Amino acid sequence: MPAHPAHREPLDADALHEAQAAFLHAYPEFASTARLDELRATEYARLDQAGHVYLDYTGGGLYACSQINQHMDLLCNEVFGNPHSTNPTSTAMTRLVEQARAYVLEFFHASPDDYVAVFTQNASGALKLVGESYPFEVAGQYLLTFDNHNSVNGIREFARAKDARVLYAPVRPPDMRLDDDKLDAFLDYVRPGGNNLFAYPAQSNFTGVHHSLAWIERAQAKGWDVLLDAAAFVPTNRLDLSRWQPDFCVMSFYKIFGYPTGIGCLLARKTALAKLHRPWFAGGTITVASVQGDRYYLQPGG
Ligand SMILES: Cc1ncc(COP(=O)(O)O)c(C=O)c1O
Repeated sequence: MPAHPAHREPLDADALHEAQAAFLHAYPEFASTARLDELRATEYARLDQAGHVYLDYTGGGLYACSQINQHMDLLCNEVFGNPHSTNPTSTAMTRLVEQARAYVLEFFHASPDDYVAVFTQNASGALKLVGESYPFEVAGQYLLTFDNHNSVNGIREFARAKDARVLYAPVRPPDMRLDDDKLDAFLDYVRPGGNNLFAYPAQSNFTGVHHSLAWIERAQAKGWDVLLDAAAFVPTNRLDLSRWQPDFCVMSFYKIFGYPTGIGCLLARKTALAKLHRPWFAGGTITVASVQGDRYYLQPGG
């Protein structure tokens, strides 16, 4: 009777080498993922050092060591000030921020003629920006699918505060996909002349289901502005904004590459952004605010 694997004597280095070679000979396709083993050894060695198997699909990607090292180098060797001023440390910071903004647009194939990248603390922060600034009104409505993240559900409170109608489109058990006919019928409830916002996740964080991106165009054709929650989708899928053009799209970067936390993004179509009205002002969003005059002037696009 063969020994239980747990009771086998450990192989010496030569025997291990031979066994590996025999295994690779029998299963050559195993070598096709050698790059992943290499990455694991160079960038994520802490996993094996601590004996971890880390399984993640949507929640939080792990950072690579080189990300941390490059960031430390940058911080240790450069002097950065607050952006949006004219001194050298400030312009150095502004340049990096603008480079990052341009790269985010490029990565998602979003034309800078059509889209603006607004950095936020996370996807929830981006959703709040849309929720608090969208022109909900009595004649308008907020339609969302059953399987949204709570940060998308939470926008209904902004809608309700302005007496807009809130509607939920169901998903169908057992696979929890959208009921196409029902969603089409909900989209027909569009209120012409009002502001209508439809929100859904490209990938549900609850079920993992991918919802068709074709709903973006279908909803827009019926008169809806579309808010696509891409937070769970983009860590494992490419989103091409030259093909799919939601009015608003939100994500958290730590979910893609783990570090830094505390930064996400709202990608907004310029035409849709023009509809938003920020209900307050803050540091970088204004050109000037007067205390005595009780007035403020927003930055262009603010
Ligand atoms: C689909 C989806 N939307 C929104 C969020 C909120 O992301 P954050 O907590 O980074 O704001 C998450 C987080 O898991 C998510 O999976």
